[in-house]
Amino acid sequence: MHISIIGSGYVGLVTGACFAELGNIVTCADNDTKKISELKRGAIPIYEPGLKELIFANTRKKRLKFTTDIGGAVKSAEIIFLAVGTPALENGDADLTGIEHVARNIAINMNSYKVIVEKSTVPVETGKWVKHTIETYHKRGIKFDVASNPEFLKEGRAINDFMHPDRIVIGVESKKARDTLVNLYKPLNAPIVVTDIKSAELIKHASNSFLATKISFINALARICDKVGADITEVAMGMGLDKRIGRAFLNAGIGYGGSCFPKDLDAFITISEKLGYNFELLKAVRDINETQKDFFLEKIKEKLWILKDKTIGILGLSFKPDTDDIRNAPSIAIIEALKAEGAKIKAYDPCCMAKINKEVRKGLKFCKDAYEACRGSDCLLIVTEWDEFKELDFAKVKKLLKRPLIIDGRNVYDPQVMKKSGFNYIGIGRGKHE
Ligand code: UGA
Repeated sequence: MHISIIGSGYVGLVTGACFAELGNIVTCADNDTKKISELKRGAIPIYEPGLKELIFANTRKKRLKFTTDIGGAVKSAEIIFLAVGTPALENGDADLTGIEHVARNIAINMNSYKVIVEKSTVPVETGKWVKHTIETYHKRGIKFDVASNPEFLKEGRAINDFMHPDRIVIGVESKKARDTLVNLYKPLNAPIVVTDIKSAELIKHASNSFLATKISFINALARICDKVGADITEVAMGMGLDKRIGRAFLNAGIGYGGSCFPKDLDAFITISEKLGYNFELLKAVRDINETQKDFFLEKIKEKLWILKDKTIGILGLSFKPDTDDIRNAPSIAIIEALKAEGAKIKAYDPCCMAKINKEVRKGLKFCKDAYEACRGSDCLLIVTEWDEFKELDFAKVKKLLKRPLIIDGRNVYDPQVMKKSGFNYIGIGRGKHE
């Protein structure tokens, strides 16, 4: 099939490369000329395992191309995916100006029947507005369908998630759109849920909100564990073996970050409010997530007392491992809070140091590896659980640190092993061992 993806950001690029890999002819379009010329040169703007190789292979086979000509991309495709950003506005609403702009562009350039698919995360009823916008600006009476096909990719695992999804959700209003999209996804052999557009839009916000709820639930429970001297990882295991609950997304830590959960929760809370429902449960989820960073900071202060002029080593800056994404990363808020107390910070991340902005960089020393961050530090913080931190030489770490104190925001290590190795090891909700 001929597919165009409008918006060559994270979702757009992964979706485009994967559809090309499945044998479709794909055009990825974006109005960012710099990004498109870089992509044409083979420079991939994001770090995602396997993406570069997939883009190279499919560009070579002429199944994948990049363009700034949105009109041309509209004309050449049978299926058009909207994958433009929907960032949060000040009031928490999703900013849908990109979606509206593309909808008008499609209306003006539409030359034959198209299925226009929302891929970006959008509030419920956006499909209705996309349809209305295209009807308003399209003058030639050509038929089209709007559909919703939310994306469930996780950064760092995106290619695998695309190729082996738990489910594919398709929201449609016509048999023609349904058949087109079911056919497109057939090679993946995954369960397909076909529904109306509004339900599909809701499935996306509901899924992200539910996952965020699991995280905040386990983080709240971790605070109780610390108070009574229990171990959150054992509690999560005991709960998670119940198939109705499941172990996934029950890892306590310093709270969720990234470009999706915080933004999507805000948007879902706001849209619910507009619809006349006060989604208090999600407000509590958000609140727990915000205060989880304070909980971590309190642990640091409990051990170090005065932070002024103390040196703190930080391992991991990205919002989670295997990505260079630092959007809404808990590390940023933690660094700012430590700096405000006068601490000196030495940080190391395998991938995203270059992405830290000037303001955060001030007073921050980047290190060439994890050991460098340990050298002369009063304490070592684990902020992102990159695999390479799991295999450190702890005898060396101990020698390099000024005192053997590790405060682990991701519960990466076994507290017993750390204790035996001579560390004062503090985790999240692991009071049993402290
Ligand atoms: C999330 C969803 O998992 C995807 O299904 C969805 O497609 C995507 O948002 C999106 O809407 O685009 P992502 O933000 O890439 O994916 O990352 P996750 O793996 O879900 O992690 C989000 C945050 O939760 C990270 O900061 C992670 O450290 C944290 N987390 C996750 C925990 O603190 N504990 C857990 O048990 C799991």
